[in-house]
Amino acid sequence: MNIRPMKLDDIPAVVLVDTLAGILLPWSPAAYAAELRKPTSWCWVCERLTEQPLEYVSPFPSVVGNLSYPAGTPAVIGSLTLWDVAGEGEIANVAVHPQFWRQGVGRALLQTALHQAALLGLKRILLEVRASNQPAQHLYRSFGFIEDGRRPRYYSNGEDAILMSLRLNQHKS
Ligand SMILES: CC(C)(COP(=O)(O)OP(=O)(O)OC[C@H]1O[C@@H](n2cnc3c(N)ncnc32)[C@H](O)[C@@H]1OP(=O)(O)O)[C@@H](O)C(=O)NCCC(=O)NCCS
Repeated sequence: MNIRPMKLDDIPAVVLVDTLAGILLPWSPAAYAAELRKPTSWCWVCERLTEQPLEYVSPFPSVVGNLSYPAGTPAVIGSLTLWDVAGEGEIANVAVHPQFWRQGVGRALLQTALHQAALLGLKRILLEVRASNQPAQHLYRSFGFIEDGRRPRYYSNGEDAILMSLRLNQHKS
């Protein structure tokens, strides 16, 4: 697998992967394009050579078309966006195509973001995650993120947000 900076051409795949991964309010293609222009945003994708043909069927074809990767071609299977918010990092988005869960993609993306954050001199990384999202919480805890607080009923379905943070000189890599 290869982690590299996101390009404009990757955006349809990134939006479809977000949707397939179950992100309830995925960013639009325009929102991702805006991220790529911001000097305070870093966006990466994980690309992997397909062993078999891979089809991404779009649930909203008027926004993003279907995608089709023949066998043996590089497919975008995950992405992560890091923000520099006034000198602190924030993991704004991370998602991996469900077919590739538990294969180290999320870990590789997060590792890349933490490395970039260290290069930028960010001392702390923050994020929020749904209380029910145990896979993501496990991933973050495995890097040393700790729970800092909770925002009750933060999400539109009434679910709490868990606030997590990591002091960069403490992360395990
Ligand atoms: C969270 C997510 C990005 C993890 O991606 P992934 O590529 O499957 O993660 P990895 O394979 O790199 O897993 C790394 C570690 O995270 C933890 N983890 C990941 N999925 C897990 C699960 N289903 N249950 C428990 N722990 C899990 C484990 O500690 C795992 O290490 P291990 O496999 O050695 O035990 C992925 O599940 C996803 O896209 N979820 C939907 C979108 C989402 O929730 N985004 C986060 C919003 S805050």
